[in-house]
This record gives sequence, C-alpha cells and structure tokens, in this order.
Amino acid sequence: MAQFDVASLSTHERSAFITALVAPRPIAFVSTLSASGVGNLSPFSFFMAAGYSPLSVAFAPVRSRDGREKDTLRNVRATGDYVINIATYDLVARLNQSSYTYPAEVDEFDAAGFTRAPSLRVRPPRVAEAVAALECRLFQVVEHGNGGASASYVIGEVVHIHVRDDVLVDGIPDNRRIEHVARLGANAFARITPATLFDLARPTEP
Ligand SMILES: Cc1cc2nc3c(=O)[nH]c(=O)nc-3n(C[C@H](O)[C@H](O)[C@H](O)COP(=O)(O)O)c2cc1C
Repeated sequence: MAQFDVASLSTHERSAFITALVAPRPIAFVSTLSASGVGNLSPFSFFMAAGYSPLSVAFAPVRSRDGREKDTLRNVRATGDYVINIATYDLVARLNQSSYTYPAEVDEFDAAGFTRAPSLRVRPPRVAEAVAALECRLFQVVEHGNGGASASYVIGEVVHIHVRDDVLVDGIPDNRRIEHVARLGANAFARITPATLFDLARPTEP
C-alpha cells in the first residue's frame, strides 16, 4: 500500500484523494434566498442524511482557497431556511452549469434554466423540474476550521417533502423510478438506473 501523510498533501491533492475515495456521493441541489431576496441554486455533494426525529440532513460548503464563504452559506445564515432538491440524471448538465461562480446578484434558476415552484413551509422556491424536494430549516452551522478550503457543515431539519406522484409505489419513493446522479472524484459522475440496483435483505441469523 502507498502511504500518504495528510500534512504533506497540498489542498489540491487532499481534494483529489477525498473526492475519489469518499464516493459515490449524493448531490444536494440547494436553493436559497439572500437577505435582500436574490435567489441562489447550487449543487453540493458533501451531503448526507442521518436521524429521523428530527429528520436531519447536512451538507457542506467549502470556503475558497482565500477563505471566502459561498453565497449559499451566507444566505442560509441570513435567512435560516433552504430547499434541498434531489439531483437526477436528467438535470445533471444544467445542475453542473449552476455550479459556475456567478456573481451574488445572479440567480442560478435563470442562469442555468430551471423553473421556480413555490415551497410551502420555507421561503426559497424549489426546483419544479426536480423529482423531489426537501424543505429545510437551519439547525446549526458547524465550522471545522476557519481559513481557506475549510468546511462549514450546514445541519438542518427537513420540515416538508415534495415528491412527484409517478415515482411513488405504495406511497413511498421507489429507487427504480428515480435516476439519481452521484458525484465521484475528478469530473466523474455515476448514473443510478434500475440495472445498477440490487436488493439485499438484512441478515436474520448470526
Ligand atoms: C456536482 C457538484 C458537486 C459539488 N459539491 C460541492 C460541495 O459539496 N461543497 C462545495 O463547497 N462546493 C461544491 N461544488 C461547487 C459549488 O457548487 C460551487 O462552488 C457553487 O458555485 C457554489 O455557489 P454559491 O457561491 O452560489 O453558493 C460542487 C459542484 C458540482 C458540480
């Protein structure tokens, strides 16, 4: 096995290693509003869910090398609410375009060609084209470091869920009807199709 002391890796190398190894990652396609009401829409693959009561989710904007916060983080801090739209293969080209570093006054809904749909419990709109959307209230931002390339974990509670009727089976979202798209290292993505899925029941014996 090759050995790598993290202290000797550059920021670029750390990013290349961790995104290739902690993979595949789901993508939170996050819509927010600034304090003055300007919309923002950006993808974040440092994204996870854990815990059902409260229904808890976290994503992590990383600061730029010179320590600047992303607009999404600034908006979430200012307003306390956001929507996590679910990323699927049909959206991936426009979703990728929305990750371009537009000025704060540009709304990526318009820049990347998405349609706003109203949310019910939070102010930011959801993405009409998304198969599902999670309306979230901010619980806490946890900073791990505070300099360039450091992480801010945005932990939130899901307070309302939208799901397109055609992906529900017996009232539950069915993964054979949702073509999720996931992020890996470098520019790699994965497309989840019914052919790539398999079922495995939990063990019932030691
Ligand atoms: C698929 C994908 C996943 C991404 N995941 C993250 C992430 O987890 N954290 C992050 O800081 N940036 C991530 N980015 C980059 C941000 O989307 C990009 O910096 C975006 O412009 C941030 O926008 P904002 O400043 O408007 O919030 C990702 C980009 C793509 C295309």
